[in-house]
Amino acid sequence: MQVTVEIYRQDAETGASRFDTFIREVDPKDRVLDVMMEIKDQDDGSIAFRKSCGHGVCGSDAMMINGINRLACQTLIQDLKGSLIRIEPLKGLKVLRDLIVDMDPFLASLQKVTPYFIPKTTAPVREQKQSIAERQIFDDTTKCIMCGACTSSCPSYWSNGEYLGPATFVKAHRFIFDSRDGGDAERIEALDDRDGLWRCHSIFNCTDACPRDIKITQAISELKRYIVARR
Ligand code: F3S
Repeated sequence: MQVTVEIYRQDAETGASRFDTFIREVDPKDRVLDVMMEIKDQDDGSIAFRKSCGHGVCGSDAMMINGINRLACQTLIQDLKGSLIRIEPLKGLKVLRDLIVDMDPFLASLQKVTPYFIPKTTAPVREQKQSIAERQIFDDTTKCIMCGACTSSCPSYWSNGEYLGPATFVKAHRFIFDSRDGGDAERIEALDDRDGLWRCHSIFNCTDACPRDIKITQAISELKRYIVARR
């Protein structure tokens, strides 16, 4: 089938932007990333975008494809239901060049909830056991690949870049509900802030955008209930 691919371009120095259009013959089972790589190889090597593993694990090729945040490596042409493919950078983050956005504010937000395991005891002498039921409580949020698709789809984040955003809440959930973790106090201080959980209005864009199908809005609700219960 023939497709028309429109790719957002932005000059790194002047900020001038445009869409470049390419016509390609593709297999409907091709991934958007395959088509982008072919265009870069054969038509215009200056197109800038991130990609690494190419298999939905690293999260680096998150971008807006036909108006929806997705991973280019996970999106098949046949799933786009049409012959026009419009590729844009993630919204809400500063564009550095073409499809490459500045992920620094996103990563800085994650740091505010100490996104790593803090053991309850300083020097456990034995293995810290955890039951299957205890693990199940935060199993869903361990799947996050930090692609940014959720946070950059959130209207609350578009209107206030200081808002911690859903990816940060997912990371906090993963550790707060871990029965072996003892780092609640620092995380809750960040979450229970004016730019924290309470700016979430359950819009659900984040849940729809997640390429790992994490139930993000549900995780946020669980965090809200947890914080209220501790007051
Ligand atoms: Fe935003 Fe998701 Fe809440 S889209 S408002 S973080 S439910």
